[in-house]
Amino acid sequence: MQLLQDKVAVITGGNSGIGKETAKLFAKEGAKVVVTGRRQDILDAAIEEIGHGAIAICGDVASVADQQHLVAEVGSRFGAVDIYMANAGVINLSTSGEVSEEEYDRHFAVNTRGVFFGVQTMAPLLRKGSSIIVTSSLAATKVLPNHTVYAGSKAALAAFARNWAIEFRERRIRVNILSPGPVETEILGKLGVSEADRPALERQLADLIPAGRMGQPEELARAALFLATDNFVNGLELLVDGGLSLA
Ligand SMILES: NC(=O)c1ccc[n+]([C@@H]2O[C@H](COP(=O)([O-])OP(=O)(O)OC[C@H]3O[C@@H](n4cnc5c(N)ncnc54)[C@H](OP(=O)(O)O)[C@@H]3O)[C@@H](O)[C@H]2O)c1
Repeated sequence: MQLLQDKVAVITGGNSGIGKETAKLFAKEGAKVVVTGRRQDILDAAIEEIGHGAIAICGDVASVADQQHLVAEVGSRFGAVDIYMANAGVINLSTSGEVSEEEYDRHFAVNTRGVFFGVQTMAPLLRKGSSIIVTSSLAATKVLPNHTVYAGSKAALAAFARNWAIEFRERRIRVNILSPGPVETEILGKLGVSEADRPALERQLADLIPAGRMGQPEELARAALFLATDNFVNGLELLVDGGLSLA
């Protein structure tokens, strides 16, 4: 018996990393999966890899018009949604002194506003008993070097999720947070760290993590499946970080 037989799952930022691995696992478990991202060519390749009839809808989570377009497309194809994973995110590491207005706004437009309006626009399509999963970060609760703006943009998500869990209670919609520690995905190439400095950074990170290594996106996908399917888990922030929160 597949765990997500005939469920409809929408995953933002589903063309890469954690979102794509989650899409693959959800599809394998029987879900009809919709993935989003801004790059059409990468989306096309992702749905080939995800298989099981997954579909891709190109759009920017920072744009409410794009979110409305996504909801209209999903609504016309499927009518309702069982799992909404607000997962798209951006990061650029820098000290607070180096952060430009543009970088600040980009982090909050994608990581914070994108999640808020993503849920607001998707809410009418969410079926009774559905599940919202918000991808945050360990950085929202643990101080990590040069993460200040990213951390701030993710920290708001826990408050959103707690409030939504109560706002949506009549519809039995559960809202949980998935907070990864360092995970080997494409995002490591987007940190603003040079290619030459990356191996050293990755080694440093792995040394800090009690598990002795970085996480794999498949491990986050399994945690997302747990949040999607366990009907008594609500308002949880699940850290999947190899124990880095303790170090
Ligand atoms: N990997 C880690 O170490 C780690 C740790 C903690 C938290 N996280 C969080 O986990 C989530 C997934 O990250 P990942 O590691 O899987 O990174 P990734 O491989 O870089 O994936 C990020 C995804 O977000 C999409 N995206 C970025 N900006 C977008 C926008 N404005 N509109 C729509 N889609 C957008 C990207 O697609 P396009 O570029 O095509 O738009 C991509 O699919 C993020 O929220 C990230 O903050 C990751």
